[in-house]
Amino acid sequence: MFSPTSSAILLYPAAIEKAIFRTSESNKHKQTKNMSEQAQIVRKDILPQPENPLVPLQRVNVTGQAVETESSEQNKPNLFSPKTIRGVTFKNRIGVSPMCQYSSFDGFASDFHLTHLGSFAFHGSGLVIMEATAVAPQGRISPQDNGIWKDEHIPNLKRITEVIKFAGAVPGIQIAHAGRKASTYALFHPKVDEPAPVEEGGWDDILAPSAIPFKEGARVPKEITVEEIKQTTQQFVDAAIRANKAGFQVVELHFAHGYLASSFLSPHTNRRTDNYGGSFENRIRFALETAEAVRKVWPQEYPLFVRISAADYIDPVHADNGQWTVHDSVELAKRLKAVGVDVIDCSSGGNSPFYKTPARGEGYQIPLAEQVKAEAEIDTAGVGSIYTPSYANSIVQEGKVDFVLLGRQLLDEPSWPTRAGDELGYSVSRLDQYKYGKYKKVPLFRTD
Ligand SMILES: Cc1cc2nc3c(=O)[nH]c(=O)nc-3n(C[C@H](O)[C@H](O)[C@H](O)COP(=O)(O)O)c2cc1C
Repeated sequence: MFSPTSSAILLYPAAIEKAIFRTSESNKHKQTKNMSEQAQIVRKDILPQPENPLVPLQRVNVTGQAVETESSEQNKPNLFSPKTIRGVTFKNRIGVSPMCQYSSFDGFASDFHLTHLGSFAFHGSGLVIMEATAVAPQGRISPQDNGIWKDEHIPNLKRITEVIKFAGAVPGIQIAHAGRKASTYALFHPKVDEPAPVEEGGWDDILAPSAIPFKEGARVPKEITVEEIKQTTQQFVDAAIRANKAGFQVVELHFAHGYLASSFLSPHTNRRTDNYGGSFENRIRFALETAEAVRKVWPQEYPLFVRISAADYIDPVHADNGQWTVHDSVELAKRLKAVGVDVIDCSSGGNSPFYKTPARGEGYQIPLAEQVKAEAEIDTAGVGSIYTPSYANSIVQEGKVDFVLLGRQLLDEPSWPTRAGDELGYSVSRLDQYKYGKYKKVPLFRTD
């Protein structure tokens, strides 16, 4: 588990060394300070000024760009065909699905993120979407979530986007508000999903369309007021402006998995009687207004993605007030398209602990993306248990999706795109620094 102190140490090791030194110096005079007071001194000392001891990328004397020149263009598998949306060209259709890493402190991205996300770009993914990044501190899933609610977050994020672009990939960021699922322990804490107590960095004032907890034992959210709805939309807008300043070229709005926007969409979680609840038109209002407002500030040359839970898939026994279906998703996608959204990223579930998917196995959510693409006539990203290169290629080739997002497979194997190319008979160009990896089956030193 990432304690705030240990995450701080990971954030800025050089700074902390100095801070610890200073702390121990001052302790010569103030032996009475207890451990938590010392920790406060260390954290206050390091957070505002991350140090940058690494050589800036601009000084690295190589091309750095992964240019696909080494394989026959005619035989290029669809998975590796480029795609242009607005002013951005993705070199292939492989994207890193956003994945929370619970490795931030006070919302600040850390050196963990730089290495983690940079690695995917170095190994061939065309699109790297940074994890759910909170538009407000209250909208974090856990105290360790990444954030973009203040300008001070921008420099760390910018370092990350520069590395991703250096490797020829497109940097994206998912911006999010966790709604009633905020303020829980992080994924790798033994008490995952349980409310994080205030003394461990949690907070009690969580928001939702209706005052219904996610599950038994979860915090009861406060019913969000119309004024707070408008403020939240503005927080998404401000986050998008910061994302642009940080160098991202794709923003994905997180409207899935039972978080704030998702719980507005579903009749299961939205029991409001005002303009933001009841009818389909009312339930989609927050999502639509937010997408429209973000589109106005997000540069016209950059694509806007929206991730939805394309179906709630709640066990009907537990869905007495109805649930969100793929037909609703098609209607929503048409309206999102009309306000300038470019891609619908189709996930599912998260709105209830009683999730019951009709499908299992590789690509279990792809039928949702396929239907949204066909009926709303909009580009889609497909995600969920995709790991076989031939399968990933086939869903692009057959026009079911435009992007294939991988999560856990890439965590396990960041170089999956290179292996996928090999298996599909296509030689993916490596970064200059990694070119020798390609010739691993011949002796390094030849004598003939
Ligand atoms: C560690 C982890 C963190 C995740 N965090 C997010 C997130 O921040 N935003 C999101 O929309 N989905 C999140 N997801 C879901 C993934 O993006 C993805 O949709 C899901 O894992 C299914 O894809 P996969 O089978 O390729 O892993 C997360 C999944 C994992 C495993």
